[in-house]
Amino acid sequence: MATFTLPKNSRITGKGRAHKAENAQRVRRFKVYRWNPESGENPRYDTFEIDLDQCGPMVLDALIKIKNEIDPTLTFRRSCREGICGSCSMNLNGRNGLACTTAMEDLKGEIRITPLPHMEVVKDLVPDFTQFYAQYASIRPWLQTVSPPPGGKERLQSPEQRAQLDGLYECILCACCSASCPSYWWNSDKYLGPAILLQAYRWLADSRDEMTGERLDDLEDPFRLYRCHTIMNCATACPKGLNPAKAIAETKKLLAERTA
Ligand code: SF4
Ligand code: SF4
Ligand code: FES
Repeated sequence: MATFTLPKNSRITGKGRAHKAENAQRVRRFKVYRWNPESGENPRYDTFEIDLDQCGPMVLDALIKIKNEIDPTLTFRRSCREGICGSCSMNLNGRNGLACTTAMEDLKGEIRITPLPHMEVVKDLVPDFTQFYAQYASIRPWLQTVSPPPGGKERLQSPEQRAQLDGLYECILCACCSASCPSYWWNSDKYLGPAILLQAYRWLADSRDEMTGERLDDLEDPFRLYRCHTIMNCATACPKGLNPAKAIAETKKLLAERTA
């Protein structure tokens, strides 16, 4: 359940450290959230100046440069650096996105980087995804069947059936959408949130899956599904251009149709 008073140790009161770029012609300034649970100190913002002539164009390039050359203690997740793994999701100038696919030139002014909002922080820019992954596991995100595959071989789909998965299978589980959803902020212990509900619909929409009824039973709950109030932040936030709100609406439609 939501708490409306911030814990004392979450307030950003720590004294930030500033790192200047020497002899640089083109400088970009970053303000980066820092918090180390082992220090006992409150979070702080550190500022880093980056020489753009010595750095790649993406926000992730700048973070890697800071870590490699200025402050090796800066902690963030990344892996693929091309928008596939979903690891580098964070909040960039107030908007959730992927550091690796966000160009610095597309952000205005000083670039302020914080972890995804409304998630517990492990350290610096790393949010705790424990609950998010447990919610993902709860929807049983794999093909479930009861009948044997035709001819003992693979289960085929027509091109039309396969097309039903477009706009769903591309989800990289970055959580940008869930961390932008007010309903998820306030009820993330009970509401599954847009990312997991999009994944749930991905299996409902799969012509090969034979557990549609059970999957719908699991979702038919005032919190797990119905906390979505169609605010649409999720679709705006998704760096892959997906529309979780539409998937949620389709799920509600399936539930309405089976009770009609
Ligand atoms: S449409 Fe639903 S899931 Fe998306 S942000 Fe709004 S409440 Fe959250
Ligand atoms: S729907 Fe988009 S924003 Fe949400 S987890 Fe998937 S890729 Fe990320
Ligand atoms: S590093 Fe993989 S999505 Fe950004």
